[in-house]
Amino acid sequence: MSTPSSPTLLVTGASGQLGGAVVRHLLDTLKVPAERLIVTTRSPDGLADLAARGVTVRAADFDQPDSLVAAFAGADRLLLVSTDALMEPGKRLTQHRAAVQAAVDAGVKHVVYTSLPSADTSHVSFAPDHWGTEQALSASTLGWTILRNAWYFENLAYSVPGALTSGEWATAAGEGRIAYIARDDLARAAAAALASDSNENQVLTLTGEQAWSARDVASRVSALTGKPLAVLDITQEQLIGGLTAHGFPPVLADVFASFDAATAAGDLGAVTDDYARLTGQSPTTLDAWLQANVDLLTKAH
Ligand SMILES: NC(=O)c1ccc[n+]([C@@H]2O[C@H](COP(=O)([O-])OP(=O)(O)OC[C@H]3O[C@@H](n4cnc5c(N)ncnc54)[C@H](OP(=O)(O)O)[C@@H]3O)[C@@H](O)[C@H]2O)c1
Repeated sequence: MSTPSSPTLLVTGASGQLGGAVVRHLLDTLKVPAERLIVTTRSPDGLADLAARGVTVRAADFDQPDSLVAAFAGADRLLLVSTDALMEPGKRLTQHRAAVQAAVDAGVKHVVYTSLPSADTSHVSFAPDHWGTEQALSASTLGWTILRNAWYFENLAYSVPGALTSGEWATAAGEGRIAYIARDDLARAAAAALASDSNENQVLTLTGEQAWSARDVASRVSALTGKPLAVLDITQEQLIGGLTAHGFPPVLADVFASFDAATAAGDLGAVTDDYARLTGQSPTTLDAWLQANVDLLTKAH
């Protein structure tokens, strides 16, 4: 049974890359006893290893709102990992609102949510889903911690391998900068926020210690791999045309193009020290991340 000093913690999306890493940090870094953890996922069979460690594994799909109250029952604090439903604009907001309502109905006291920087003003096409979820939380009776997660270093694996093959990185972001942070650092931060005993409502923007332009990243990748990598400035229209020509559905081409528009506008470039204040650690640097992940950036897709 949970007590105020040993609350029961719940992580949604626990078979995702971020959610899975959060659970590992809760168990192995923060030494939260498995008996105090509930994890939910659409695929419980995939989490048999956690069940074997004593973690309670339950099924939860935000597209099935009626099942969520039972899935969240008994949790005191809940990490709501934003879903990856990008193909239907607005769908995520419906999913997240269902999860927030279920958390209220299940008696959860505090929700931690993974949002994005400048959720209220960002040019990222799906920012309204995150801003709407933040508003649903602040309008609810729940306590909340909003983690506005900066762009993962891991996102470089979408653009850099192809750019290295052609020797050219086409971007519509100009000299705009991104305050990249490692996904595993964000998982550590989410674990810390979930396991914290603070019920204070707060918005934290979790970033690396520096922000980088495509040219900054390209020169480092080039030096590390010994391959030439030039940055080619293109327009938004050219970017969308290129993505569509490569087989991206129009809705996804618009999503990816909006990342460059947001970068150019400065939406992803702010640097904060919220990560260090939350975790007591420094975030992984660009150079360290590149060194450790050169294989990811040079692999053929
Ligand atoms: N800041 C960034 O650069 C960045 C980059 C990529 C993604 N993101 C966001 O951060 C989230 C986690 O990232 P990730 O790397 O872990 O992505 P991922 O591995 O693709 O995980 C997707 C997550 O969405 C959950 N999900 C999908 N549909 C769901 C539904 N109907 N009900 C409940 N959960 C659902 C999945 O949970 P189960 O599979 O366990 O059910 C999983 O946790 C993403 O979903 C996205 O919102 C941020």
